[in-house]
Amino acid sequence: MSTQRLIFWLRQATLVLLCLPALHLAWRWYADDLGARPVTEATHVTGDWTVVFLLCSLALTPARAALGWMPLVQIRRRIGVAAALYAGLHFLIYVADQKWDLVVVALEIVKRFYLTIGFVTLLMLAALAITSTNGWQRRLKRNWKRLHWLIYPAAVLALLHFFIQSKANVGEPTVAAGLFAWLMLWRLMPAKLSASFLGLFLLAIGATLSAFLFEVAWYGLVNGINPMRLLNADIDPDLFPRPVHKVFVASLAAIALVAAWRGTAGLKRLWTQRYIRTTIPTS
Ligand code: HEM
Repeated sequence: MSTQRLIFWLRQATLVLLCLPALHLAWRWYADDLGARPVTEATHVTGDWTVVFLLCSLALTPARAALGWMPLVQIRRRIGVAAALYAGLHFLIYVADQKWDLVVVALEIVKRFYLTIGFVTLLMLAALAITSTNGWQRRLKRNWKRLHWLIYPAAVLALLHFFIQSKANVGEPTVAAGLFAWLMLWRLMPAKLSASFLGLFLLAIGATLSAFLFEVAWYGLVNGINPMRLLNADIDPDLFPRPVHKVFVASLAAIALVAAWRGTAGLKRLWTQRYIRTTIPTS
């Protein structure tokens, strides 16, 4: 298959995958399958997918570098725009829940800190999605890169909103924050190290430790829980899988994926060399 065709199919497949969560939610809504509090469930689902797509869009640069597969850049814009659209839907569901009373919505956003940061994040994602086109890229020139750096504070605010919103059980936001730490540590690492298996292993340790620190900081500051209790829980095999384990397993899965990809590419190269050697006669 030609690269152009491959990119075409990759883009179509990404579009379908990005629409699936919204279609599934619409189906559950239609089938009355959203539980006792359908609006709350819909808010949770759309909020969760916004965070997932935000992390996916940040993962594409490391994935392209580790796998050496250029077509991956072609889907980054789509995933980023999807994150903004799911955030917009999440906000719309909230507005609908307030009976479309925009004054109440505005007052709530001003009054409640977690809504304020959610709203600021939404504005940032909207600005990034609107200016993601080639036209805006040309118009803004060097400022385009500066503006799109906003994705990092937007992700931090989104995670903070997720933590505050999750109240007593911050398992999911801790996993998301651990994966975000992996993505940020990758960007801080020297390129040569992050491309090696040693670098990827160090990233796994760093992301897992970060997840532990996020957990300790949150439960320590909000609930006054002793860090030793969390450490004991994290090393207790009966409590597996805790958020830190999930981050570690996800990081190991990334290493396995890179190993399998590079192994397959190496085998392909060997096979091609052998084929050339055996079929083209040397003079
Ligand atoms: C890009 C921006 C945003 C992101 C990434 C985001 C993400 C999330 C996530 C992940 C949750 C928790 C879901 C769960 O517990 O499974 C959540 C809950 C919530 N968000 Fe957002 N949010 C954003 C913006 C907003 C805005 C602008 C509002 C409203 C002004 C809002 C209102 C809410 C509410 C009300 C809940 C809790 C629902 C409930 O438990 O009753 N969010 N959000």
